[in-house]
Amino acid sequence: MHNRVNISDKIYWVGCNDRRTHLFENYWPIPKGVAYNSYVIVDEKIAIVDTVEKGAMDEYLDNIEAVLDGRQADYLIVNHMEPDHSGSIRSLTERYPNMQIVGNKKTFPMLKGFYGISENLLEVKEGDSIDLGEHKLNFAMVPMLHWPETMVTFESTKGILFSGDAFGAFGTLDGSIFDDELDLDYLEEEISRYYSNIVGKYGSPTQQALKKLGGLDIKMICATHGPVWRTHIADIIAKYDKWSKYDTDEGVVIVFSSMYGNTEKMADNIARQLVKRGIKKIRIHDASKTHPSYIINDIFRFRGVILGSCAYNGGLFPAMETLIHELQNMAVKNHVLGIFGSKAWGGGGVRTLSKFAETIKWEVVAEPAEALCAPANKDYNQCEAIAESMANRLKELYS
Ligand SMILES: Cc1cc2nc3c(=O)[nH]c(=O)nc-3n(C[C@H](O)[C@H](O)[C@H](O)COP(=O)(O)O)c2cc1C
Ligand SMILES: [Fe+2]
Ligand SMILES: [Fe+2]
Repeated sequence: MHNRVNISDKIYWVGCNDRRTHLFENYWPIPKGVAYNSYVIVDEKIAIVDTVEKGAMDEYLDNIEAVLDGRQADYLIVNHMEPDHSGSIRSLTERYPNMQIVGNKKTFPMLKGFYGISENLLEVKEGDSIDLGEHKLNFAMVPMLHWPETMVTFESTKGILFSGDAFGAFGTLDGSIFDDELDLDYLEEEISRYYSNIVGKYGSPTQQALKKLGGLDIKMICATHGPVWRTHIADIIAKYDKWSKYDTDEGVVIVFSSMYGNTEKMADNIARQLVKRGIKKIRIHDASKTHPSYIINDIFRFRGVILGSCAYNGGLFPAMETLIHELQNMAVKNHVLGIFGSKAWGGGGVRTLSKFAETIKWEVVAEPAEALCAPANKDYNQCEAIAESMANRLKELYS
């Protein structure tokens, strides 16, 4: 039995589950795995939409062959060139030598660069379409969602949007393909982590894409990762809209770096003071233990962020350095920030966090609390002042 599922009469899902890879893009943890989704439209002409990562290629090629049932593929639509989707292109072209590769003018230099392919290309522009017989494919450019060449394909007779990475999720498809067949609660964090980790840097391109796609009558969204959306389309679009506007909920993420526990004590103190002032949603993370993937995801969820670091060789502790580098690179917007830390002589942790606050342009709520060695009463008082003004600001924003 080959891995294929009808998503409509003549359109098949032919994706693969990857339960072996530990880190997506060799960086982001995927404890629940990831699916690479590809689709085949069997009509007078046959079109394949995107491919899979090369580790899943053998299984994938068998799936395609079973669906094609002896016929040749006419088109391969390349919505996105990242190798998790383009990895099987060369093998497909070897199997189906007459197949035309459909992309835009930014697709083809990458196709040549990654795979040396420069023949049988069919260039499409915004608004172009291809008739397959019954089905009609329309193309729209969505640059930087996730790469500059990225486009989406809308099958207009059935209202199916092949959205590439947009609306994707981590997590394998365990028997179920459609959003209404699976346990969405189980996948909830994998959906938001996929957005915040992979798409998160591109909030404004996401907003532009949502505006562009807003006029379409979408009945189904087929992303390249995660479930096929057909029942909860409005929900996933609303989530993307919210996340890409950097709209967050009332709550505070406290992240600390501490070698010997002094900075950590301040984190716990701040959390307690926040709770006393009515803040319920508080997450404390040790930056050395929790991967930035999860911390960034919480930061995309909650407005308040309080960062603390011990001083380390004149600067920040490395784990905190990694986190703020990632936040700066992603240019995460719209947060309220508090800062704390500990030092034994010239410092460096709090100082660097204060510079970070200027660079990222988040609103800082109070003067930083910086202990000299172990926190003393005056430091706890300053922790309380941070909690107090954070709580007040959040109450102001969310009442
Ligand atoms: C390897 C190492 C490097 C440090 N570098 C600095 C430094 O550059 N400036 C400073 O003021 N303190 C420095 N310290 C001292 C710590 O920041 C200080 O002891 C602080 O209280 C540790 O906080 P913690 O208990 O949360 O780890 C360093 C400590 C260690 C172990
Ligand atoms: Fe991608
Ligand atoms: Fe992808």
